[in-house]
Amino acid sequence: MPLSPNKSRAGVLAAMLLLLAAGRAAADTPADFARRFDAEARKLDPGQGDASAARGERFFKDPHGGEWSCSSCHTANPLQTGRHATTGKTIAPLAPAANAGRFTSPAKVEKWFRRNCKDVLSRECTPAEKGDVLAYLRSLQ
Ligand code: HEC
Repeated sequence: MPLSPNKSRAGVLAAMLLLLAAGRAAADTPADFARRFDAEARKLDPGQGDASAARGERFFKDPHGGEWSCSSCHTANPLQTGRHATTGKTIAPLAPAANAGRFTSPAKVEKWFRRNCKDVLSRECTPAEKGDVLAYLRSLQ
C-alpha cells in the first residue's frame, strides 16, 4: 500500500531529524567550544564577562615574558599557514574560516591547548583565556 503524503512527509522529517542528531554527535563546531569555554569560565567566576576577540588577539600575540607567543608558530595572521618555531614543519591555518577542521574535535582542542599553553605560558590556559582566543580566531574572515 502506498504511503499517504502525510505519512511520507513525517517519514522524511524523522529521517532529517535523525541525520541532524547524528551530525551533532559526530562533530562539534567552534560555536560549541565557545559555549563550553564560556560555561567553564562562569563556573570558576560567576562575575566573568563575555569572551573578547580584542583581548584574545593581544593574548595570542603576547610572548607572556617568555620566548614564544602563539603567533610564533601560528603566525600573526592565523588565516595563514603557520610554521613550527623549532621543527619548521608547516601548520595548517588555525582560524576556522580558513580551515573547517579547526575546533571540531574535543580531544584535539584539549591536547593542543594544554601543550601549547605550557610551551608559551608555562601553565595551562584558563577557560576565559581559551574563550578569548577562540573569539579572536572566529572573528577572522
Ligand atoms: C611551538 C609551536 C606552537 C606554538 C608556540 C603554539 N602552537 Fe598551537 N599548535 C601547534 C601544532 C604543531 C599544532 C598541531 C598541528 C595542527 O593542528 O595543525 C597546534 C594546534 C593548536 C590547536 C588545535 C586546534 C584544532 O582544533 O585543531 C589550538 C587550539 C592551538 N594550537 C592553540 C594555540 C595557542 C592558543 C597558542 C598560544 C598559547 C599556541 N597554539 C601556540 C604548534 C604551536
